[in-house]
Amino acid sequence: MSSPLTIAMPKGRIFDEAYELLLKAGFNLPTKMDDVSRKLMLEMPEENMRIILSKPMDVPTYVEYGVADIGIAGKDTLLEQHRKVHELLDLKISKCRIASAGLPNTELNEIAPRIATKYPNVASAYYREKGEQVEIIGLNGSIELAPMIGLADRIVDIVSTGQTLKENGLVEYEQITEVSSRLIANPASYRMKNERIVDLVKRLKNCVN
Ligand code: PRP
Repeated sequence: MSSPLTIAMPKGRIFDEAYELLLKAGFNLPTKMDDVSRKLMLEMPEENMRIILSKPMDVPTYVEYGVADIGIAGKDTLLEQHRKVHELLDLKISKCRIASAGLPNTELNEIAPRIATKYPNVASAYYREKGEQVEIIGLNGSIELAPMIGLADRIVDIVSTGQTLKENGLVEYEQITEVSSRLIANPASYRMKNERIVDLVKRLKNCVN
């Protein structure tokens, strides 16, 4: 038998929707999440597949290096990282947006405004295009803290329900881009395991709303 098709899936809030989609597409996966919740690798011998679970930001890395043949990654991560992967399908799940936000009724500081973000490349490209010179401050999470404690004038971050902004007294200023999860593939795997990957794309396509 050929080697298993390895899928890199994001842990956390994207996981449930992505897993649901694979189940809907008819893949024979364990349905009881309790059984799998702490595992980082799920073997599915009946499907000759396995799932590896990683931080959302790491999915494109596993796929680029070919340790996963395919992966499910947010468009936010793909825009930020420019990894050498094929983007095969918009799964239309985990929809959200990248936006700028800050304290209400505030202008950008005219001299060297500071932007805190988990997306330094997306943020600098955005402000460069607008012709605004900014200083980008990279953070790894809890980005909303930055304007509250005076670290930055604005943040560039994911907004989904808007709840985090609201609870921290921030408002959205500009929408930068819409985001949803994408199916990606390693270019060599796409050639070598083409039939299986094309079949998987077809099955998922039928379930995408
Ligand atoms: C993301 C993002 C926002 C929040 C937005 O953070 O960075 O903080 O979700 O979601 P909402 O609009 O539905 O409130 P995440 O939960 O991934 O955690 P993080 O702060 O560790 O990045």
